[in-house]
Amino acid sequence: MKTPFKSIRTEITVVIVITGILIGVGVGLFIYRVTINKAVDSARSRIETAMAFVRASRSYVRKTLRPKIYELLSAGCTNQDFILEAQSSSFFTASIFGMVNREIPDMELRQVAINPLNPRDVPNETEMWVIAYLKSKNLKEYEGITLHRGKEYFIKAFAVIPRKGCLRCHGKVEDMPLAVRQIYKPKKDLNWPVGKVNGAVLVYVPFDKVMAQARIDGLTNGGLVGGVFILMSGIILVILNFRVFKPIDALRSRAERISKGEVEEPIPYQSENEIGRLARAIERMRVSLKKVMDMIG
Ligand code: HEC
Repeated sequence: MKTPFKSIRTEITVVIVITGILIGVGVGLFIYRVTINKAVDSARSRIETAMAFVRASRSYVRKTLRPKIYELLSAGCTNQDFILEAQSSSFFTASIFGMVNREIPDMELRQVAINPLNPRDVPNETEMWVIAYLKSKNLKEYEGITLHRGKEYFIKAFAVIPRKGCLRCHGKVEDMPLAVRQIYKPKKDLNWPVGKVNGAVLVYVPFDKVMAQARIDGLTNGGLVGGVFILMSGIILVILNFRVFKPIDALRSRAERISKGEVEEPIPYQSENEIGRLARAIERMRVSLKKVMDMIG
């Protein structure tokens, strides 16, 4: 095999260093991925719990509170047409979101939409992107690690796909209950598209600490494994140096001297290994050469 190296020592060193770096980088990337995946798994299960509460509170409003209040309203107990606080699952969810955000500060819930009722729910750049993504791929959910306000977050988003009934409050201004108009004072019709993604319910879990930890873990573990590999290979190289390269060098210089006619001094050999056998072969050559030279005189 032809190699660009003039010395086996250099060749082995280069191979060891490159292999060590590759192993280090491989292990580092693996640990990095594992750390992130572990954090994603735990974030996912926490988000699932939070979303279960959100869904439960929505359906409680829809199935229990809203019909009950309609009953009371139609009985004429107040002159209002709609009690937002008790009948709108969106309003209810928004309130619950606010409380959850205070209870669990390392998790943020947001519901956003294009043409929202509450100006606070205008999607930011990241959220616009998520909505567009859900729309273009026709997906119900999205999850990923994204930069948001200069920090890394794990985001899980659920598509908001308006139904016809939603247009009562998210359609034309004139259709909206008085209470909604009074509170939000919408200046124009919202006209949410029925059946198409128009918003998202998002859960943000801060991930900058996780990412930093993953980077540190990846770097230290990768460096450690790569370093240990290079160290062990280095020890093997030192052993090879004393047991193989140096003896071969010595034999080479003896062979050179023999070739120049210095045939008197015997070559000592102790071991039975490959080098010992090579030494013995050269020694036999020296003896033969000496005999020939003695004969010639
Ligand atoms: C009876 C009125 C009403 C109906 C019907 C209604 N919502 Fe809402 N929705 C609201 C109100 C009020 C808010 C604003 C809550 C707040 O202050 O954050 C809101 C807010 C939202 C938001 C946040 C964006 C925004 O507009 O501020 C989403 C998303 C949303 N609703 C989805 C829906 C969906 C989907 C439906 C149909 C399944 C629906 N809503 C039906 C009253 C309604």
